Amino acid sequence: MLIAFAGAKLALGGETRTILRDAEPQIARAAAAAKFTGKRGSALDLYAPAGLPSVGRLILVGVGAAGDGENADKSAERFDDYLGLGGQTAAKLGQGASALVLFDLPEAPADAAAAGQFALGATLRSYKFDLYRTKKKKDESERDGVSDIALAVAAPEAAQTSVAAALDLADGVIIARDLVNEPANVLYPEEFARRAAKLADLGVEVEILDVPALQALGFRALLGVGQGSAHASRVVVLRWNGGAKDAQPIAFVGKGVCFDTGGISIKPAASMEDMKGDMAGAAAVTGLMHALAARKAKANVIGVLGLVENMPSGEAQRPGDIVASLSGQTIEIINTDAEGRLVLADALWHVKDKYKPAFIIDLATLTGAILVALGQEHAGLFSNNDELAGRILEAGKATGEKLWRLPMGPAYDKLIESKFADMKNTGGRHAGSITAAQFLERFVDKTPWAHLDIAGTGMGSPASDTNQSWASGWGVRLLDRLVKDYYES
Ligand code: BES
Ligand code: MN
Ligand code: ZN
Repeated sequence: MLIAFAGAKLALGGETRTILRDAEPQIARAAAAAKFTGKRGSALDLYAPAGLPSVGRLILVGVGAAGDGENADKSAERFDDYLGLGGQTAAKLGQGASALVLFDLPEAPADAAAAGQFALGATLRSYKFDLYRTKKKKDESERDGVSDIALAVAAPEAAQTSVAAALDLADGVIIARDLVNEPANVLYPEEFARRAAKLADLGVEVEILDVPALQALGFRALLGVGQGSAHASRVVVLRWNGGAKDAQPIAFVGKGVCFDTGGISIKPAASMEDMKGDMAGAAAVTGLMHALAARKAKANVIGVLGLVENMPSGEAQRPGDIVASLSGQTIEIINTDAEGRLVLADALWHVKDKYKPAFIIDLATLTGAILVALGQEHAGLFSNNDELAGRILEAGKATGEKLWRLPMGPAYDKLIESKFADMKNTGGRHAGSITAAQFLERFVDKTPWAHLDIAGTGMGSPASDTNQSWASGWGVRLLDRLVKDYYES
């Protein structure tokens, strides 16, 4: 099968025109009959095209004009959404196909970077999580499996390097998606830690803190969340030392609540099954560490996973309980369903205290309120540092993993003052995502810090060019880009 691209009004790239020359009259007639004009997202399918005796099937994929596409820069003067195009092309191919893509676009570069983005998009689009289906759907039975796609490019060597890097990054996203899609009877804290430990194969240093180790260190806020569960809590510290020996590290912390029932303040039944994805932050950090190690990023990077299960039981934490966190600050538990911030409080303090990183970014499916505010289009961004926040927003624009910054400040911080302790773990009905962020800020001191609330973007994802699965792997591409653009020596 041969794939070629057509722009607005059926414009073809120069190389493509030459190769398809003998088929052009037929293409023109077929396009007119099918009303195909090269619009973004459309395609023209031709079997046994005239003049191309060795081609059984030719698909012309529409690329449209500049600014078209889910991930496009709307102000760009030339087409730039190669990621989305890769996804759309993979979708046109279907599963299990074998295709040669003439990687040549009308009036837009088809360079090595573009080839990498295209390969990334195609790979991510082909992802399926069907580990637990024993009966395949009818249309899946024969043509299963990822397509075999070859790109015909002008400069193969540079493209090869770029595509290899893109596939490492795709692996990172897919690791994150798999973790989020796994059910909580399979993926509990110990099992998550075991899977994260596989990063050792790439040269990542892995430290797993079990309950006695966490008790000895004083992770009382985190352990309080897990104490009602039959599954023991874990903290995993991943270290990638790709930078200079004495260079200050950067740190990523992920909320890893493997299942969130709400605990004693139990959640309603509707959609509670989604709470198997309440570890999407930890999953993104794991996928990111994979991507960074696989491409041997020139930076020292720490990834911390706070892994617990939030269950009600005779041993569960109660509303009204007061815990002394690792930082020494005390917390009154008002609602045991506001558990993510308790997990992060100790994880943030630990990484700040022990590793003195240049910045900490945490990712967490932290609040339902962020869905009310931003829906599933943007993640919430909260930060104590304008430069770091600005860089994250830039990386968001570059990758299409978008964020929206929300305000913080003393008036919001006041909302978590407690009658009995240094703070309480909920702030009431107003500004729920912001008061959660204010809580976290109390555990990072002056360290430049950003909190990404991914409750809306990490799971329950709407189908897109690059993802058809429930889990998105949101944040892996964003943070890989952030590291690449600003923190590699
Ligand atoms: N994991 C939830 C947040 C969440 C909700 C993630 C919906 C994804 C989809 C979090 O632990 C939680 O329960 N937050 C509470 C906080 C409240 C008790 C202050 C919430 O958002 O209702
Ligand atoms: Mn909760
Ligand atoms: Zn939660």
